Amino acid sequence: MDVAVFSTKEYDKTFLNEANKRYEHDLTFFKPHLDTETVILASGFSAVCAFVNDQLDRPVLQRLAEQGTRLVALRCAGFNNVDLIAAREMSVTVVRVPAYSPHAVAEHTVALILALNRKIHRAFARVREGNFALDGLMGFDLFEKTVGIVGTGQIGAVVARIMNGFGCRLLGYDVRENPECLHLGVQYVSLPELLAESDIVTLHCPLTPQTHHLINDKALRQMKAGAMLINTSRGAVVDTKAVIRALKSGHLGSLGLDVYEEEADCFFEDLSNKVIQDDVLARLLTFPNVIITGHQAFFTKEAMERIADTTLSNISEFEATGTCRNVVPSPS
Ligand code: NAI
Repeated sequence: MDVAVFSTKEYDKTFLNEANKRYEHDLTFFKPHLDTETVILASGFSAVCAFVNDQLDRPVLQRLAEQGTRLVALRCAGFNNVDLIAAREMSVTVVRVPAYSPHAVAEHTVALILALNRKIHRAFARVREGNFALDGLMGFDLFEKTVGIVGTGQIGAVVARIMNGFGCRLLGYDVRENPECLHLGVQYVSLPELLAESDIVTLHCPLTPQTHHLINDKALRQMKAGAMLINTSRGAVVDTKAVIRALKSGHLGSLGLDVYEEEADCFFEDLSNKVIQDDVLARLLTFPNVIITGHQAFFTKEAMERIADTTLSNISEFEATGTCRNVVPSPS
């Protein structure tokens, strides 16, 4: 199929071109995000390949359909950026990569936990300045601490397995229980209970209307004083301004983010020569007990290979059958 690939970075090109030797689609790479201004670039392409911060709202989908696009192939797992009702009305099929490497995201989550706890980010900078003092670098043993996992699907389950290895007590909150997590000893509780009992709260649920700002002022107040919060799911699961208030008061002990509500304006770009215009992000960057990474949890070689392969295989399956096993169902 003719495929317009949006939000392309060099690494996307490398992995998609390599995988495409097996699929032979006609890929055209565009650097900009997909939105109302750039949708014209997709004119005449029967498929569009999009990423996490591409805007697939009603006006963009309508324009895509008018221009002849029949398939949106997301090269990611989350689909919160797509208006699925509009897509169905426009007869545009949406497919995704439901599982490429839960290990990539889970291992990055644990990297944030370890780095924040043992203050590796501060130790690294200190030692390079010739400062070998330990004041301010004290952490805590993970052994026997309580980890609360919100969303115990594929990624949450791998986090549970790893943290089980550290000897942690595991609590879970989800709309359905995962037998693998139950087998690991995860105890399912209500969200307030999980927040009240956990030393570390880590978020692995999708962004939906139900989970938007799930972690708000009230939820933060319910957390243990000094607890750690980790978000590698989607930015808007957390109310960032509420989190800043909790950090300033000292109630929230530390914060690790790989995703941010307003990340579309800055993540994935080199802004090191510019002044950051987002005051909320700029404030977050000033805290010594906050580590932010720019949506890189998925970014391993293995994950990139699987993302490229599944994306192109989804397109081939749609081309051959008019449907695909990885279709994102429309909400009823
Ligand atoms: P999954 O679908 O296997 O698991 C999600 C879990 O969340 C399910 O068990 C589901 O029942 C649960 N859930 C749904 N609504 C809920 C609610 N209202 N409250 C509590 N739990 C709820 O998805 P997977 O693969 O584990 O991914 C989780 C999320 O991680 C994705 O939706 C995506 O947003 C994010 N992600 C982030 C990446 C990154 O690079 N930072 C990469 C890949 C995914």
